[in-house]
Amino acid sequence: MDRFFKTMGWKTKTAPTLLSLLFLYVTSARAASDEEPRSHCADFHNSTWPYRQQGSKLRMQYLLYTPKTPDCASLFSRDSLSTNTTFNASLPTKIIVHGYRALGSKPSWVRELAQALLHAQDANVVVVDWVYGASFAYNLVVESYKEVAVQISVLINQLQEHGCKLESFHFIGVSLGAHVAGFVGTLFKGQIGRITGLDPAGPMFKGADTYNRLDPSDALFVEAIHTDSDYFGISIPVGHVDFFLNGGMDQTGCARSKFESILVYFPVYGYMICDHMRALHVYISALNGNCPLIGISCLTYENFLEGRCLDCQRVFNGTCPQIGLIENSGITVHPLPQQEKLFLLTSSTQPFCAHHILVHLNVSSLDKSAEVQVTLKTRGLPETEETLRLHTDRNNYRRVIGHPVTLCEIDSIMLKNTGARFYRQGDIHFVSVCISEFPSVRPVAPLCVNNIDVRRGSPWNHDFVQLCGDT
Ligand SMILES: *[C@@H]1O[C@H](CO)[C@@H](O)[C@H](O)[C@H]1NC(C)=O
Ligand SMILES: *[C@@H]1O[C@H](CO)[C@@H](O)[C@H](O)[C@H]1NC(C)=O
Ligand SMILES: *[C@@H]1O[C@H](CO)[C@@H](O)[C@H](O)[C@H]1NC(C)=O
Ligand SMILES: *[C@@H]1O[C@H](CO)[C@@H](O)[C@H](O)[C@H]1NC(C)=O
Ligand SMILES: *[C@@H]1O[C@H](CO)[C@@H](O)[C@H](O)[C@H]1NC(C)=O
Repeated sequence: MDRFFKTMGWKTKTAPTLLSLLFLYVTSARAASDEEPRSHCADFHNSTWPYRQQGSKLRMQYLLYTPKTPDCASLFSRDSLSTNTTFNASLPTKIIVHGYRALGSKPSWVRELAQALLHAQDANVVVVDWVYGASFAYNLVVESYKEVAVQISVLINQLQEHGCKLESFHFIGVSLGAHVAGFVGTLFKGQIGRITGLDPAGPMFKGADTYNRLDPSDALFVEAIHTDSDYFGISIPVGHVDFFLNGGMDQTGCARSKFESILVYFPVYGYMICDHMRALHVYISALNGNCPLIGISCLTYENFLEGRCLDCQRVFNGTCPQIGLIENSGITVHPLPQQEKLFLLTSSTQPFCAHHILVHLNVSSLDKSAEVQVTLKTRGLPETEETLRLHTDRNNYRRVIGHPVTLCEIDSIMLKNTGARFYRQGDIHFVSVCISEFPSVRPVAPLCVNNIDVRRGSPWNHDFVQLCGDT
């Protein structure tokens, strides 16, 4: 995202103000298209910008979804507990906290997230509506996030009196909402059950000390999913485990250069926040149980892409953490690790899962450095490809590619000698080209082809003849 501002010649520091303006322009158009709620169901506060006066009340309210009322929210408060409510204190309680809302538009994704949570687990789902306080200049909103947390802690105290256990609360905080949840956790000395931060906000938080932002001491288990850590999201790990999707910065299917996309498409809103909102959409997909989203622990994304981290032995005793509601993300080691970085590749569309295919090239020594493009193909699906730079002083290269299906469903591999024309790149001889998948549940031999010459201008193709099964 930084690139956009640099291209425009703006200093990144002035960007939040600028973003507020962009948000203001575009969300006005956007809000109108949000799904209209059914009339008898409760909804977010209506609001018109600019209405928040400094020092004025936050006007928070809570909406409740339960297994008996998954399609229709009701207003929820302490008083609801003494009347006819579907809130059930013996069930766990999920609390959804949204983030910054320019122009006071209500978050359009709330119902989908609430329903996905109810699909995955019998629970009470409470949505915090602080749109009124969240719709102002970003820096002023940041000033009030602790006040929001204090208000929520009052509700938690009331629910505890009603019989809810502190460890049965699970906060799902989006962007700035993740730090709100973190501060609620601080108020309860880290004894609430779980906090999930969906691309926790970065601006004004990265340098903050742990008291002021989400961190592993805020709950018994804290996890975060990072998708825009170079701009709206935070770049540092903030949980026991932190899933960095595609490295955590730029997401597949979101316009690669946001600057270009802004010139070509209007309104820009969807493109500006595409990376940031991906964490939420991937989480919803995981809740719906479409396919496993598993993170591999690794020190850096570069190491991960170079195939240096193929399992979770080092930190997790072999069980890689998984995005979703599974307890502690499936981590069995004790004590829990802290700020452990996990990497995974995703595809660009629902349900976002990708299989991690390791390509291993063994190249005969080269006179000049060269470039080769590796493409994996499966009938009926988009091809996946990576370009590798080959050097004169190395023979072995490893690269991870995120492919939509598993190893045994890859039909063919193509290698292209893609050195620039003026470069006079010669033939490349490969001693072997192998592909394998990780993390593997059971050992599977890599698929290898030996002794290949790849000429400039004529790509090399190989079809795999294989069946999926236990053979
Ligand atoms: C919000 O505004 C819409 C239309 O302007 C209205 O139908 C609805 O009742 C309002 N909702 C609340 C909670 O005030
Ligand atoms: C309680 O609420 C449910 C729906 O939420 C309704 O069907 C039922 O009639 C209510 N019962 C009483 C006693 O009000
Ligand atoms: C509340 O949830 C518990 C546990 O699932 C269940 O046994 C009980 O019947 C529920 N109570 C009501 C009133 O639905
Ligand atoms: C690691 O896993 C193995 C089996 O998967 C188990 O026997 C062992 O106790 C585990 N070690 C720890 C420290 O949890
Ligand atoms: C690469 O190929 C060379 C020549 O056959 C062989 O000596 C070497 O062990 C291979 N390296 C790997 C990592 O397979």
